[in-house]
Amino acid sequence: MARSRATVSATDFLPEELSLAALREAAADCKGCTLWQLGTQTVFGEGAESASVMFVGEQPGDQEDRAGKPFVGPAGQLLDKALVEAGIDRSTTYVTNAVKHFKWQARGKRRIHQKPNSAEITACRPWLEAELAVVRPHVLVLLGAVAAQSLLGREFRVTQNRRKLIESDLAEAVTATIHPSAILRGEPERREAEFDAFVDDLRFVAGLL
Ligand code: URA
Ligand code: SF4
Repeated sequence: MARSRATVSATDFLPEELSLAALREAAADCKGCTLWQLGTQTVFGEGAESASVMFVGEQPGDQEDRAGKPFVGPAGQLLDKALVEAGIDRSTTYVTNAVKHFKWQARGKRRIHQKPNSAEITACRPWLEAELAVVRPHVLVLLGAVAAQSLLGREFRVTQNRRKLIESDLAEAVTATIHPSAILRGEPERREAEFDAFVDDLRFVAGLL
């Protein structure tokens, strides 16, 4: 049963059975914060329970919200391209997000991405922790500031920690890099260099596998 308004989080919706199938089913009905009212559906993580590497993004975007799958829009396509270049087989990965509902604001007919706040990130963390407990990846890769904030705290700086191992009990090897959306949002003339640096970060990940 849900507790008082102030303390409600995804914890109130976790299933007893710890398996990806049970988690996914339970997450579909999560009302651990108010974002369920905004998104079309819960976008749970995707990949093999035996995946050796887990990537954590921020939250589903417009296309992910419609498809019900993480990283299928422009950022996901860029991630896929970078994974191929780095020699990481997508079928060996598990891909998920720190927050599992799309937060957006209408601008005309478009739905504009809004950054999740601390309370929403905290409310949704139990799903991410449960995914980590089930998949137990050898390597955990945090994509961007929101994923890092969720699991490492607000002080963590992604840009100062690229291609480095982070001291953490979350997995045998934990590392962070930028979010692929940052490459798309950046200056067009910087895009190629930013993409190459992102691929370098993923090569570092490949070296840990
Ligand atoms: N950005 C994210 O962080 N996650 C997605 O699934 C898509 C875009
Ligand atoms: Fe639950 Fe997370 Fe969706 Fe909030 S964003 S309702 S905590 S699944």
